Amino acid sequence: MADVISHNISGLKRRRFDSVIVGAGGAGMRCALQLAQSDVNVAVLSKVFPTRSHTVAAQGGIGASLGNMSEDNWYWHMFDTVKGSDYLGDQDAIEFMCREASSAVYELEHYGMPFDRNEDGTIYQRPFGGHTANLGEKPVQRACAAADRTGHALLHTLYQRNVAANTKFFIEWMALDLVRNLDGDCVGVVALEMETGEVMFFESKATVLATGGAGRIWAASTNAFINTGDGAGMAARSGIPLQDMEFWQFHPTGVAGAGVLITEGVRGEGGVLLNSDGERFMERYAPTLKDLAPRDFVSRSMGQEINEGRGCGENKDHVLLKLDHLGSDKILKKLPSIREIAIKFANVDPIKDPIPVVPTIHYQMGGIPTDINGQVVVPDCSDGMKGTHGVVEGLFAIGECACVSVHGANRLGTNSLLDLIVFGRATGRYLVGKNITNDKFRSVPIDGADKPLQRLKKLESKQSGMGVLEMGNAIREASQQYCGVFRNSSLLKEGVSRILDIDNNLGDIFVKDKSSVFNTARIEALEVFNMIEVAKATMLSAEARKESRGAHSHDDFPERDDRNWMRHTLWFSDKNRLDYKPVILKPDSVASFAPKKRTF
Ligand code: FUM
Repeated sequence: MADVISHNISGLKRRRFDSVIVGAGGAGMRCALQLAQSDVNVAVLSKVFPTRSHTVAAQGGIGASLGNMSEDNWYWHMFDTVKGSDYLGDQDAIEFMCREASSAVYELEHYGMPFDRNEDGTIYQRPFGGHTANLGEKPVQRACAAADRTGHALLHTLYQRNVAANTKFFIEWMALDLVRNLDGDCVGVVALEMETGEVMFFESKATVLATGGAGRIWAASTNAFINTGDGAGMAARSGIPLQDMEFWQFHPTGVAGAGVLITEGVRGEGGVLLNSDGERFMERYAPTLKDLAPRDFVSRSMGQEINEGRGCGENKDHVLLKLDHLGSDKILKKLPSIREIAIKFANVDPIKDPIPVVPTIHYQMGGIPTDINGQVVVPDCSDGMKGTHGVVEGLFAIGECACVSVHGANRLGTNSLLDLIVFGRATGRYLVGKNITNDKFRSVPIDGADKPLQRLKKLESKQSGMGVLEMGNAIREASQQYCGVFRNSSLLKEGVSRILDIDNNLGDIFVKDKSSVFNTARIEALEVFNMIEVAKATMLSAEARKESRGAHSHDDFPERDDRNWMRHTLWFSDKNRLDYKPVILKPDSVASFAPKKRTF
């Protein structure tokens, strides 16, 4: 690779920005706003119109210890987040997030976000899973809510602010690959305009990946179809490891058979889960928090009820979420979208009848390793546990595609929106603070776009092979079948061999339509290249972890094993290598929590 500054890399046109952000969800737009308001020249690339990004689907609330309903503080929030993470979250990052939460939410309020209000005008907060007062004593109302459309309200607020701040949006552009120079620095991305098929190099001093999760590697998912792990795929192909990818959250209440999310806010408002005996079974599994225990706990309890024959319906394959006792006034005011979803996707009106629900894939706890400023760090852990850090200059990751790691082995509900806002803002502040506008552009490799161009060329020339849908389905079915709520050694072993087999056949992918204009099949093929990276990381990391922790529930190793497995997994795409780095516990700090058995 020649390290020559070119004005025309791999024959492509290029555009230059101080910062290029890939993804226009909550994290990308919060970061962009911080930059644009400081007159940084910032571009945001998005596969969809910004307000259609997946953040729009977040329903129940954003977590912050405002204490509007009863006493609360960041330290209790930190305790719940650490315990929720099954002690795999890094406690320095968790402390930072929980301390920053209130100011981040008040800032949204001042931007004009239409939160629900209490009688005294303060922001309304509802109870959510795993959020407690006084270190686990009783549930606390910490989820700041805009009815059951909190993500929608947040995303629209941020978009409007960005338009006013002159952020430049490149809408319906798909980023294909990172470009790194001989020093390993990131110098931008190669991206494709979906409307015209034109490929361009976006040169940047700070490239920020904010591409969201990859929940679409599963067959049943609450995620939007755009969630195909594009940032993770690009990072993996450019030599950056993916961290803790064995940890995927199953949301307890996806509509059975449809996958659409029914917010935990329903249980926050008083809804309950029932088995076929009409029993409120969570009282048995979690006597204190009941239906509001953390999601990994509730999903496993539901799975156990179904496996032991107490599932509902003809096939006894789901449980019921009952909320009619809340009354129509409360449902129409606080949960209007849920009613609409239940009527459209389950054919039941929850004012009268319960909603059939099953645990459904929802959130990726792992991702691209970063520090609290969003800087991507590749730990040098070749000696197993050394954990020294190597910063990838010019590259940042925020939101669900990143692993900072505040969610560890299981995320608390409402901490996802919080993560987007806190780390989007922190990354923006860091770049403004280091005066990015005055930085120089780095040297660019003349052949830096060759690999994505070759991939495109192959798709254009291939005349037969395996269809895009077939290839995508193979990945989705393997993830669903071999890496579900309950895992075991033989399933995971088979899963690894199946995913590697699909990976070996990836070159066979075939797109019949050869046009360049709005060729959605080609876009889907390009997404499959990202999905397979995430699926390999997931299956190999899961197969290697011989314990049960958070969302990774392993029948052959049913206990958490802190002695051997209190460590983060790192998966490198090159040779499918696995390595590990330590969890940050900071035992000498006042704000730290030693691992304990999790009961609720
Ligand atoms: O249940 C929900 O409303 C989802 C929230 C979240 O994932 O944080």
